[in-house]
Amino acid sequence: MDKSVDNKINQLHPSKILDEMGISWNDDIEKKTSSLYKKVSSVIPDIEWPFFAPYIEAINILKKEKNATILAHNYQTPEIFHCVSDVRGDSLQLAKEATKVDSDIIIQCGVYFMAETSKILNMDKKIIIPSLDAGCSLAASITGQDVIDLKRENPGIPVVTYVNSSADVKAETDICCTSSNALEVVNSLDSDKIIFIPDEYLAMNIAKDTKKEIIMWKGRCEVHEEFTVDEIREYRENEPGVKIIAHPECAPEVVDEADFSGSTSAMINWVKTNQPYKVLMVTECSMSDNVSVETPNVNFVRPCNLCPHMKEISLEKILASLWYETHEVIIDHDIAKRALNSVNRMINL
Ligand code: 13P
Ligand code: SF4
Repeated sequence: MDKSVDNKINQLHPSKILDEMGISWNDDIEKKTSSLYKKVSSVIPDIEWPFFAPYIEAINILKKEKNATILAHNYQTPEIFHCVSDVRGDSLQLAKEATKVDSDIIIQCGVYFMAETSKILNMDKKIIIPSLDAGCSLAASITGQDVIDLKRENPGIPVVTYVNSSADVKAETDICCTSSNALEVVNSLDSDKIIFIPDEYLAMNIAKDTKKEIIMWKGRCEVHEEFTVDEIREYRENEPGVKIIAHPECAPEVVDEADFSGSTSAMINWVKTNQPYKVLMVTECSMSDNVSVETPNVNFVRPCNLCPHMKEISLEKILASLWYETHEVIIDHDIAKRALNSVNRMINL
């Protein structure tokens, strides 16, 4: 059977792939996956496991057969994050780790700009994303042409681009940044004025801590912009002793209310290091589930804001992506080369 057809119409439903592999929920699968279930049992009800377990078993078998590596962003759901992924982390960590893996295929469980960044750093590897619908409101807010226009309106001003952006946008950029190094990148540039795109809130959060004038773009993360300062203060009041940590894609007044702010991995490290009695992670809600599995002594207060794009990735789609080796991320060589320069400038900083 030709498994490389990039055509959804010709593809089997993922449950039929299980049939082809002869895998279904039974005593044997229950036994084989029991150690994985033990790990995630605090966040996945036992009634759901018979659905997940056959997919987990099939993905882990196929992964070995095809010499594939699965990268999972911190916002992936626990059955993906803890049960099938090989490398976990924030968006930049995943791309950097992708350069170290010695696999023929990399399956990116995250959103499209993350898969693109992995491809930019690994042009010789086959990078696959299980769903083409896994977008990002920040990346969608700006195009390469918008950056060209911004540069024309602001001649000579360097452009700093948050990694949550397309390859086209990165290609028009002087240097990339992540949420954890944005301030450092901005301060490293020899200019009093900086164009910072596309996240307006991240730009505002940096502007508080730098003397440089920041020219902003009106991009927003649709998940983090939902958190309000009133909501955070209410949690502080109703949950005595709670530590609040926020992603810098939140509004500046929300970040100001927090005890710590950093990238998703920086937030996770903060919880693991500080082991607070009670914590509220002001970010996408799967992350609390994922960290709670590894920090049983910490109590998580969970306001639930889901990223619909991250949730496009499921075990079923991962299995289909491995089986058919779709959807491969392809980037024009010239764009990839120019985008790589801006990513490398950040990495080398
Ligand atoms: P991180 O780079 O901090 O993982 O953030 C990515 C993201 O999409 C946050 O919404
Ligand atoms: Fe994009 Fe926000 Fe989703 Fe992150 S959480 S992928 S920034 S929409």
